[in-house]
Amino acid sequence: MEVYQLSPRYKIFRRIVVFDTIESTQDFALKNGKRGDIIVARVQTKGRGRFKRKWYSPLGGLWFSFVVESSGIDSVEACLAVLNVLKKYIKENIGIKYPNDIFVDNKKICGIIAEIKGKDSVVGIGINVNNELPEFLNATSLKKETNKEHDILVLLLEVLREYEAIRSLEKKKKVEDFRNNQIILGKKVKINLIKEEIVGTAVNIDDDFNLIVISDGEVVKINAGDVFLIE
Ligand code: BTN
Repeated sequence: MEVYQLSPRYKIFRRIVVFDTIESTQDFALKNGKRGDIIVARVQTKGRGRFKRKWYSPLGGLWFSFVVESSGIDSVEACLAVLNVLKKYIKENIGIKYPNDIFVDNKKICGIIAEIKGKDSVVGIGINVNNELPEFLNATSLKKETNKEHDILVLLLEVLREYEAIRSLEKKKKVEDFRNNQIILGKKVKINLIKEEIVGTAVNIDDDFNLIVISDGEVVKINAGDVFLIE
């Protein structure tokens, strides 16, 4: 395990803890992380995503979790931070698939999970950078999109800086950015909620970051669940 203290230029983050291999940075941070900690792993053996899905985490990806005071919209802020950084390298067809996946040309490049730990949130981010991807995943990587390898640590620091910048923006600006970068608005979607499934057209993101869907002539407000594009 390596520990790097961050410079006081960072206001939210304090130190980076790097593991060669760990089961899951998310589980480690939930259990042992302190506010301001960033836990990074070169390889995760039990990386996990939302809905208890397995998160494929081999060498070459950026797998990390951090602990911050909860803002209530931690995953939205993380999503905007990653999106802004990836947009520096990928100029086209990159956007957010509600709630907080980042897609390039209908392939997933980044997944985000946020979980509560007392008054704090543990935000877990997985970005496919230089790692290989199995066919069945319908995913892409920064290397695939740009035809070159990228420095994982540089990318991590860029995301952390951008996250701090996003946190200090007004809510209005965050909503606008979140709305304007969605790939699903105007498209037909299927949403799996715990008890039901909704099929309809995604029409908007409201001012509280909910997804608005028109289904069977009714306006439905969604703030959880798993969204699939069906057309
Ligand atoms: C999702 O798309 O469902 C969210 C994926 C989150 C993956 C990251 S990788 C770092 C952190 N550790 C985990 O076990 N999961 C998150």
